[in-house]
Amino acid sequence: MQQLTVDLGERSYPIYIGSELLQKTDLFAPHISSRRVAIVCNETVAPLYLDRVKHALAENEQTVIVLPDGEQHKHWETLQLIFDGLLADRHDRKTTLIALGGGVIGDMVGFAAACYQRGVNFIQVPTTLLSQVDSSVGGKTGINHPLGKNMIGAFYQPQAVVIDTATLATLPPRELSAGLAEVIKYGLIYDADFLTWLEQNMQRLMSLDEQALSYAIERSCAIKAEIVAQDEREAGLRAILNLGHTFGHAIETEQGYGAWLHGEAVAAGMVMALQMSCLLGNISDVDVQRGIRLIRQAGLPVVPPATMSVADFLQHMAVDKKNVDGKIRLVLLEQLGRAVVTSDYPANVLQQCLSEDYGALVGMQD
Ligand code: NAD
Ligand code: GLY
Repeated sequence: MQQLTVDLGERSYPIYIGSELLQKTDLFAPHISSRRVAIVCNETVAPLYLDRVKHALAENEQTVIVLPDGEQHKHWETLQLIFDGLLADRHDRKTTLIALGGGVIGDMVGFAAACYQRGVNFIQVPTTLLSQVDSSVGGKTGINHPLGKNMIGAFYQPQAVVIDTATLATLPPRELSAGLAEVIKYGLIYDADFLTWLEQNMQRLMSLDEQALSYAIERSCAIKAEIVAQDEREAGLRAILNLGHTFGHAIETEQGYGAWLHGEAVAAGMVMALQMSCLLGNISDVDVQRGIRLIRQAGLPVVPPATMSVADFLQHMAVDKKNVDGKIRLVLLEQLGRAVVTSDYPANVLQQCLSEDYGALVGMQD
């Protein structure tokens, strides 16, 4: 087992990474403050992994809350089900919530933990690749609004993150690819050597090679922990973790939550961010093609939906959380492995990026 730390002073916490960790009582126990726990998962994850976590927490008095599955349920009504379960069983301020599932569960349970009785402890137990490399680390929690993705939420850190890599064995291939989008993101924004490693090892990752997956998860979490430790509340640096997300959130919102997976939308969004960086002269055509090739190798979409117009994109991008004074701020690359957040670009270049023929751009590789 590997252990990393998210270094946030008195709110620091460990990330445990390894195979078959769900059953390990001794990983959970030090982070639980009273006898009471509430395990929150969804109807897909419950039959797969709930028993293992219940077993690990056998010494605790347990409430189990099973939510409907899917991004389309990441809203107020589902959040209310968590509060219903906690209040029905009279959980107090010392209770600990256990978020067992993917990023949707993690984000909602984290937000419920931030709100319930003005804040209770929670542990992230992520079971998708995306949640293991990204959403479970760093304390961003929240729900969607019909007008914008993740628009209601709180920064609220967990007590620990328990990553059991064995859970990836049951993950559908499409979800594995969605997680790889965020892994590729770390290479593009922060670590050119990791990007090269990903180019050399994508096949191993796609075939669930345990060693390769462990390394990719560990490196991704280490990068995220390093960034979050420097800028927990996204005053500056942390925003680079949103490469492709401004375009991607527009795709997710326009297409209807759940139609495109978050990682798929981010993948197509990263291609758009690469192209925008190229149009501004920061990176070369060759760099763009390198990024597209890797994203494609991961089984991800590289072309935004044909039905989305420039106006559709601009309408959704206008409500992005990074925006300041109505100006759309974008994460762009200065070079492969180094990102910048800026609203300092000519409006016509963004127009050009949004109206690009991505089919043709991608076709250059065929
Ligand atoms: P998800 O939570 O919807 O999980 C994907 C699917 O896999 C679901 O159907 C789920 O039930 C199923 N599943 C989960 N674990 C499984 C397993 N081991 N085996 C089989 N099926 C399993 O989606 P996700 O990709 O994990 O997370 C996406 C969400 O994360 C989005 O809402 C996004 O906004 C959010 N997110 C948050 C952050 C953050 O910093 N908080 C970062 C990135 C993404
Ligand atoms: N996923 C972006 C962040 O955590 O900041």
